[in-house]
Amino acid sequence: MRASAPGKVFLFGEHAVVYRRRALVTAINLRCFAEVRKRTDFRISSPLGITSLDFEKHPYVSHAIKRFSEVKSIEGADIEIKSDIPIASGLGSSAAVTVAVLKALDAEFETNLSDEEIYEIARRVELDVQGIASGTDPFISTYGGCWLIPQREPIQIPKIDILVVDTGIKSITGEMVRKVAELKESFPGVVEKIMDAIDEITLAAVSKLEKLEFESIYMLMMMNQNMLKALGVSTTEIDWIVEELRSMGIASKLTGAGGGGCVIGLGSVELTNEAKEKFKSAVIVRPEREGARVEETMEK
Ligand code: PMV
Repeated sequence: MRASAPGKVFLFGEHAVVYRRRALVTAINLRCFAEVRKRTDFRISSPLGITSLDFEKHPYVSHAIKRFSEVKSIEGADIEIKSDIPIASGLGSSAAVTVAVLKALDAEFETNLSDEEIYEIARRVELDVQGIASGTDPFISTYGGCWLIPQREPIQIPKIDILVVDTGIKSITGEMVRKVAELKESFPGVVEKIMDAIDEITLAAVSKLEKLEFESIYMLMMMNQNMLKALGVSTTEIDWIVEELRSMGIASKLTGAGGGGCVIGLGSVELTNEAKEKFKSAVIVRPEREGARVEETMEK
């Protein structure tokens, strides 16, 4: 059986959400596809290579199989992964592959898991691999849509164009989360205040996004980016892209863990299209309503 799950972008609030502050996150129209067939041993094939269960090369898929086996003991499976979502770029590719694999395993082995059960297993897989995580990515990949997290409040945002510029630098989410945790240990009072500020920025952004008030969105996004910079998760490459976009009148910030990965930009359709031409690595994505689903075919 085949299944897919969407990637996501943090519009506001990454890192602070690890410490129970609010974040605004939307699923995007880039998906990861997993095809699962019963067999007598395990074979995982993806753009990363072909392996058996391999916790180094295919950590998320291997842990997903291990956790799924706690629900139903399985002899083996052939698992093929194809993805539109760039890896390790802050667009939720790890959660999307985890959720897509779980959804396809569920369909192939007829375990009839609910979305909430799939989300719970995917959240455990994220912790197995990363050690520390907010669970946001598996939630969005499972359910799709735009949400205020951790309250799980659905937010209706317009079908905006979201500019995504990839720095081309891979980063490991767990390492960036640990970096912030260390900063928080050294300067707890300061970092708590930064987290509170991010929380307020996120809350203010919700109504502005619903009404698409670009002037306010611009200021709030820039403030969020500056807070992330203060937490030490921006880089010179990210700062450069943000500055270039700023000079074109586009609000932008890093999205996800930082330390590389992607920058997102919001502005009028004309401005985002202009910016897309300027950056070779830029794509335009849209908010996606649909979460994990069983697919009729592997073709996208
Ligand atoms: O870079 P991503 O897509 O893995 O997002 C990480 C977001 C953090 O807030 C930094 C961590 C988390 O688990 O929420």
